[in-house]
Amino acid sequence: MRLDDLSIEPTRVTFWGSRSALEIRSPLPGVLRVRHIPSPGNSSLTSRELSPKQSWSVVEHSELPLSVRNDKARGTAVVEAEGLSLEVQPEHGTWVLRDTGGRELARCEGFSGETMPDYPVNRFRSRLTLHAPPDEAWLGFGEKVGTLDKRGMHFVFWNTDVVPHHPDTDPLYQSIPFSLGLRDGVAWGFFLDESWRLEVDVAAEDPTRVRWESAGPELDTYLFAGPMPADVLKRYTALTGRPPLPPLWSLGVQQSRWGYENAREIRSVIRDYRAHKLPLDCVYLDIDYMEGYKVWTWDRSRYPDPAGLASEAAAQGVKLVTIIDPGVKAEPGYRVYDEALAGDYLVRNDRGSVLLGEVWPKPATFPDFTREPVRKWWGQLHRGFVETGIAGFWNDMNEPACFRLINGNETFSINSAPALDLGRVEGPTLPHDARHGDRRHLEVHNVYALGMARAAYEGLRELVPERRPFLLTRAGAAGIQRYSAVWTGDNSSYWAHLELSIAMLLGLGLSGVSFTGADVPGFLGRATGEMLVRWTQLGTFYPLLRNHSAKGTPHQEPWRFGEPYLSIAREWLERRYRLLPTLYTLMHESSQEGLPALRPLVMYAPGDTEALRMDDVFLFGRDLLVAPVIRQGRTRRHVYLPEGRWLPFFDLGLSSGEPVEGRQHVLADAPLSSVPMWLREGGALALTEPALHTTSANWAHLTWHIHAAPRMEARLYEDAGEGYGASRLTRLSGERASGRFVLERSTEGALPPSRATETLCVYALSEPKEVLGGREHRFVDGVLLVEVDAGWSRVEIRL
Ligand code: GLC
Repeated sequence: MRLDDLSIEPTRVTFWGSRSALEIRSPLPGVLRVRHIPSPGNSSLTSRELSPKQSWSVVEHSELPLSVRNDKARGTAVVEAEGLSLEVQPEHGTWVLRDTGGRELARCEGFSGETMPDYPVNRFRSRLTLHAPPDEAWLGFGEKVGTLDKRGMHFVFWNTDVVPHHPDTDPLYQSIPFSLGLRDGVAWGFFLDESWRLEVDVAAEDPTRVRWESAGPELDTYLFAGPMPADVLKRYTALTGRPPLPPLWSLGVQQSRWGYENAREIRSVIRDYRAHKLPLDCVYLDIDYMEGYKVWTWDRSRYPDPAGLASEAAAQGVKLVTIIDPGVKAEPGYRVYDEALAGDYLVRNDRGSVLLGEVWPKPATFPDFTREPVRKWWGQLHRGFVETGIAGFWNDMNEPACFRLINGNETFSINSAPALDLGRVEGPTLPHDARHGDRRHLEVHNVYALGMARAAYEGLRELVPERRPFLLTRAGAAGIQRYSAVWTGDNSSYWAHLELSIAMLLGLGLSGVSFTGADVPGFLGRATGEMLVRWTQLGTFYPLLRNHSAKGTPHQEPWRFGEPYLSIAREWLERRYRLLPTLYTLMHESSQEGLPALRPLVMYAPGDTEALRMDDVFLFGRDLLVAPVIRQGRTRRHVYLPEGRWLPFFDLGLSSGEPVEGRQHVLADAPLSSVPMWLREGGALALTEPALHTTSANWAHLTWHIHAAPRMEARLYEDAGEGYGASRLTRLSGERASGRFVLERSTEGALPPSRATETLCVYALSEPKEVLGGREHRFVDGVLLVEVDAGWSRVEIRL
C-alpha cells in the first residue's frame, strides 16, 4: 500500500493513497489515534476528507497538537505528539510506534482490505498486522478464556450466549478489543475501536505476528504509552471512561438463584441467611418474577406485593435486584410493546418489518439501543421498579440472545435461518442483516449491551439522582465499565471453572473493567461442600460476590452443604466484610484512575516472566497477594512471590510470621479453612469488623495492618456508602530510619470520622523502646498494636 500524499493540520496528519488513507491524531497525552482506511471503493476519499466515525466506546478526548518531521533520506515521516511518536513509511503503509525515549513499542507491518460491492451486508474485510517479537506477552482482550498471556490464541469478538461453556470456549459474552503488550518490563496498549465483528490471531498462526481482522470498512486504532501496565490502563480508561464508584451494599454478599419461585421463597432465603448468621446484602429476582416473561411486569400470583417484599427485605438490611432482559414480548395490549411499536423503537428485519424472535418471551422483539430516543424510553421504564423499591438491575440475555426466529406464522431454529433466507446468523442471536436504524446488526451487535447498560444507567441517574446506580451485565463492549458491573455468565461447578475465573477476571481488569465476579460456586451442575468453601474463599476477593445457581440444579446457599463447610464459608463471608474498607477504597481508585481491584502480579513486576505465568494468583489492590486453592483435595499450594519482602498474612489473621524474600517459589500450607496470603513490604490493609450487612463506608471500627518498611504508604477512601455526599480520603505514610519508624496521616474531604479510635497493627518491627503519639500500645508475638485517636496525625515508634 502506497500512501504518497501527506496533509498536515495542527491536530491531524493524514497520509493518502489512491483510495486509502492513514489518519493520525492525539486525543490525550500518551495516546495516538490511528485510523487505517484500506477501503478501495470508498468514494468519499477522493474529496480528501474522511467520513466522521461514531465511537460507542470513546468518551474523552481532545485534539492535541502534532508535528511532523520528514526524513527524505529514509523515506519516512515522523509524527510527534506528547508522549509518543509514530514513524510512518508511506511507501509501504507501515509504522513504528516509539516512546519519548525513542524505544520501539510496536510495529505495524501493514494493513489491507477488500470491499465486495455487490454484497448488501457483509461487504468489508479490513486487516492489520502487528509485529510480535518472540519475547512479547499479550494481555487483556477483555473476557477471554486461557492464560493471562494470550500469545498463541485466536479470538473472535462477537458477543455470544453459550451454555454451557468450557475452559476453551470462544467467543463468550463480552467484546473488548484492547490488549496490553509487555516486553522487557515495558508496557504499551492497543485498542481497536470497532463495533463490527472482529477476530484476532495472537501470534498463533504465525508466531511473529498479531493479526486483527474486522468486518467493517476500516481499523480505527488507539495506541497507548506506558511504561508501566498501570500507566497504559490509566490512559485507556481516560479514553473509554472509568467505572463510577458503586454503592457499598453492592460489594456485600449477594444471593441469587434461577428457580426461586415466589416472594415466600425470597423471604425464606433471607430468613435462613439470618438464622445461620451469614452476612447478606442483596437478593436477586430471576426471570420468574415476571408475568409471562414480560419485562417490566410482575407476576402478581407469585409476587402479590413487591413493594412490601422490598421493604421487609430492607428491614433485614437486604436489597432486591431484578433481572431485566431486553427481549420485549410481542403482545398487543402489553404497554411496553405498544409503546415500542408506536415509537418505532424496535430492531427490524432486512425487509423492514419488526424482527420477531424467541427468547424467554415468545414471540419477542428487540429494542434498538443504538438510538437515543430508545435509550431514553428504556431508561424511564425503570421508574416503576425504582418506586417499588428495587435497588439494582441485572441486565441479561443482552448479546442479544435469541433462540429462534419467526417468519410469518413459522418459527425457525437459528441455524436454519440462512437456508431460509432469513439472513446469516452467528450464535443464538439476530441475523447479520437485521436493521438498527441505518445500521446492520453485523456492525452493532457487539455494542447492543453497551447501549442497554447506558440506557439503564442514564435513566437511573435521572430518576434517582441521589443514589448511585447498581447494574450488572452479562454482555458488553469496551466502555461497559462506565455503567455496569460484569459477571462471567453461565459457568459450571467445575474446579476448572473456579481456576479459569481468576485469569478471566484479571483479563477483564486489564481491559478497564474492575467491578467483576463469577458465579460462586458455579451456576450449572452440582458443587460439593469443598468446592463451596474454596470458591467462597476466592469469591471473598471478587469485587462482585454472588452465589447463583440454575434451575434444576441443587440449591447452593451455604447452609445446603452442612458442616464443616457452612462454618468455614461463614468465616470467609465475614472476612469479606472485614475487607470492605480496602475493597471500597480500591473501587474508588478504579473510579479515579481506572486500575482494577484484582491485579496480576506482573502489574508491579512487568519484567518478571515467572510472575507472568502466575495465572491462578492475584493481588488484591497493590499490597495483598492471594493464592487461593483451586484444585480438589489440595491442602498445600505452590506460589511464586515477586520482588520485595512478603509478610505471611494467611486468612487476614494477626501475623507473627517472618517476612519472606520475593523472587522465589514457595509451597504454602492451605488446609480447607485457609488461604495463603502475603502483605507486601511497605503496604497496608485497612480492615473493619464483620457485619451481617453493610451500613456506612464511614467505618465505625478500623484497624490498619501495616508491613513496616523503609517507606510505606496506603490510602483509605470513606463516605456514606451511597449517594454523592461528603467524603474523606486518608493517606498514610511511613518512614523507617535511624532507629525509628514514623507514621503520618493526612486527610482530605469534609466527612468527619464516625469512630473515636483506630488500631494500628505494625508488623516486621522489633519490640519498641517507646511509642509516641498513641493512646496505648502492646507488643504481642512480634506484632506492635497501637491504639490511636481517630484524628491522629503522627505516631513515632522508637526501636
Ligand atoms: C441466563 C443467565 C443466568 C440466569 C438465566 C435465567 O442463563 O446467564 O444467570 O439465571 O439466564 O434468567
